[in-house]
Amino acid sequence: MCGIIGYIGPRDPLPILIDGLKKLEYRGYDSAGLCVKNGGALHVVKKRGAISDLESELRGRDMPGHVGIAHTRWATHGEPNETNAHPHLNGDGAIAVVHNGIIENYYALREWLTREGCVFRSQTDSEVLPHLIGHFYEGDLERALLHALQFVEGAFGVVAVHKDENRIVAARRGSPLILGVGEDEMFAASDVPAVLDNTRKVVYLHDNEVAVITAGRYAITNLEGAPIDKQIHEIQWTVDQIEKKGFKHFMLKEIAEQPESLRNTLRGRIKAGRIKLNLDVDPLAIERVIITACGTSWHAGLIGKQFIESLTRIPVEVDYASEFRYRDPIVRPTDLVVAISQSGETADTLASVREAQSKNAKVIGVVNVVGSTISREVASGIYLHCGPEIGVASTKAFTSQVAAMLLLALFLRQERGLALDAGLLESLAALPALAEDYLGEARDAFEIAERFQFAHNFLYLGRGLNYPVALEGALKLKEISYIHAEGYPAAEMKHGPIALIDHDMPVIFIATRSQIFDKIVSNMQEVKARKGRVITVLDEDEPNVTALSDYVIHVPRVREELSPIVNALPLQQFAYAIADLKGLNPDKPRNLAKSVTVE
Ligand code: G6P
Repeated sequence: MCGIIGYIGPRDPLPILIDGLKKLEYRGYDSAGLCVKNGGALHVVKKRGAISDLESELRGRDMPGHVGIAHTRWATHGEPNETNAHPHLNGDGAIAVVHNGIIENYYALREWLTREGCVFRSQTDSEVLPHLIGHFYEGDLERALLHALQFVEGAFGVVAVHKDENRIVAARRGSPLILGVGEDEMFAASDVPAVLDNTRKVVYLHDNEVAVITAGRYAITNLEGAPIDKQIHEIQWTVDQIEKKGFKHFMLKEIAEQPESLRNTLRGRIKAGRIKLNLDVDPLAIERVIITACGTSWHAGLIGKQFIESLTRIPVEVDYASEFRYRDPIVRPTDLVVAISQSGETADTLASVREAQSKNAKVIGVVNVVGSTISREVASGIYLHCGPEIGVASTKAFTSQVAAMLLLALFLRQERGLALDAGLLESLAALPALAEDYLGEARDAFEIAERFQFAHNFLYLGRGLNYPVALEGALKLKEISYIHAEGYPAAEMKHGPIALIDHDMPVIFIATRSQIFDKIVSNMQEVKARKGRVITVLDEDEPNVTALSDYVIHVPRVREELSPIVNALPLQQFAYAIADLKGLNPDKPRNLAKSVTVE
C-alpha cells in the first residue's frame, strides 16, 4: 500500500507533491510527509492523518526547491504517527527515502545496520532503506541504491534523493511505480492519477528496474545497471474522470457511473450475435477453470463460476488468492486460471497468478487498471475499462467484473461450438440503458436506510447467482458503515444464523425471480415466524412476498443471469446511504485501503 510522488523540474515542488498525494490518497491515508531539496539541504515535513492535515501544517511555509518526494502511508510496520511517516532519512540526513511495500528481512538488516552504528528513529521496515543506501553511498546515489537493493528481500517501490545530487532515483519490485514525462520536468509515482494534471506521458517500471530522473530526462536500468529501453505510453483518460463531478463522495459518483462503466466493459465485445474477446487460450483444451481473487473481486468470481459451469459445463473452482498461493494447489497445464482484480496490484492475487504460471496453467486477467502488474504479467485477459475507481469500497468494478465473467463464459461456450442464446446477448447489450433508467429513479434504498441507520447487525440472504450478491451487499455495509453484516445462502440460514433472528436483526432478502424463487419465499417465512424484520429486493409485485416484507426495494425485472448486476445496485446505495447518514466518509473507511499491495 502507500502512495508515492516525486518531482524534479523548474517549478516549485510543494503544490505538485500535495496535489499528487491527494490523487493517491486511496492508497493509504493514515499519515503523510514530504521532502523538498533546497540547494544542499533536505527539508522534511510529516504529519499524522490525512493529506489535508499535512497541507494545513504546510500552510504559510515557504519550501523553495526543484526536487521533492512525498508519501501517503498505510501502516504495515509501526503505528501511524509522525515518526513512522515517510520520508525517512539516513543518519546524517543526507538521504531521504519514500517506500511502498514490505522489506521482509528488515529485522536482520536493522540489527546489522545498528551494529554498524546506524540509529533508527522509527518502527518501520522502510527506515532500513535510507540507512542501507547511506551505508553504501560514495558520491553516487544510483550506485548506492543498486548496491543496497542486493541485500533487500521483499517488495518495494522506492524513491530516493540525496542532498548533493540533482536527481531522483527510483526502483521497483512488487510495488507499482511509474514515471511521468513532462516538458523539462519528470515525475515518479505509484499510480498515473498522481501525475495526470501535469502530463499524459508515462513510463511503466517493471519489477527489478531502476530509474534515474533529472529535469526532462530519464534513464532506466536493471538491478545490475544495464540500460533498458522503455516505451512512453500516452494516457487516454481525463483528469475529470478522477474527480467527483459534483457528487458528495466518489462512491456515490461511482455507483451512478455504472451505466457508463458497464457500457465500456461491453463495448465492441458483442457483435453480430457473437462474443469478441482477444484471449490467448485454446477453449477446447480447457478441462477446468480456477478463479482466484480477493474481496469484492472474489464475489464476482463466485458468480463467474456459476456462469461458466452452466454455459460450458466446464468445472470451476473459486479460491481466495491468499489461500491459493500458499496451499501448493493442484494446477495442471489444462487448467485456465482467471485472476480477477480491479487494481491489478493486489499482492495475493498477483502471487496466485505467478503460482499458476509456475505450474504451467494458462492464466488470464480480468483487470481494470491498464498497465497494472497483473495485466502485464498475464499473456492476455479482459480489461474492465470502467475507469478509475477511487472509492475504497468497490462498486462499478464489481458490476463490470460480473459482466466480464458473463462475457468470458459466453465466449468459452461459443468457442467450444455451442450455440449462444441470442436473447441473452440482446439483454446483456441493453443492460447499461436499463441500469441508467433504474439509477435515475431508484430511491427505495435511500429511504429504507433512514429507518435502519441505527441497527447493529444485518443478515443478507440470497440463493444461486444472488448468494454472492448477498455476500457483496453485506461486505459493502460492513466496510463503510462499520455495522456487522453477514451474507449467507438463504437456505443455510437454518444451520446457524436463524438463532440470531429477532426484531433487532434486519434481514435483507434478494428475492428476484429465479428458478428457486419459491424456496426463497419459504426462507422468508422462516424469518417472519421469528419476528425478524424483512427488507426484500424484489423485481415485481408478488403479493405473497410483499406481505412477508416490511420494506421492499424494487428493481427492474431482468433475465436471471443479469440479476446479480441489477440487484447489486440498490445494495450499494443502501450501504452508502447508511454510512452517509452516520456521518462517515465512505470513500475512506477506517483500516481499509483500495489497493492491497501487501499480503
Ligand atoms: C481491497 C479493496 C476491495 C477489493 C479488494 C481486492 O480490499 O478494499 O474493494 O475488492 O482489495 O482488490 P482488487 O483490486 O484485486 O480487485
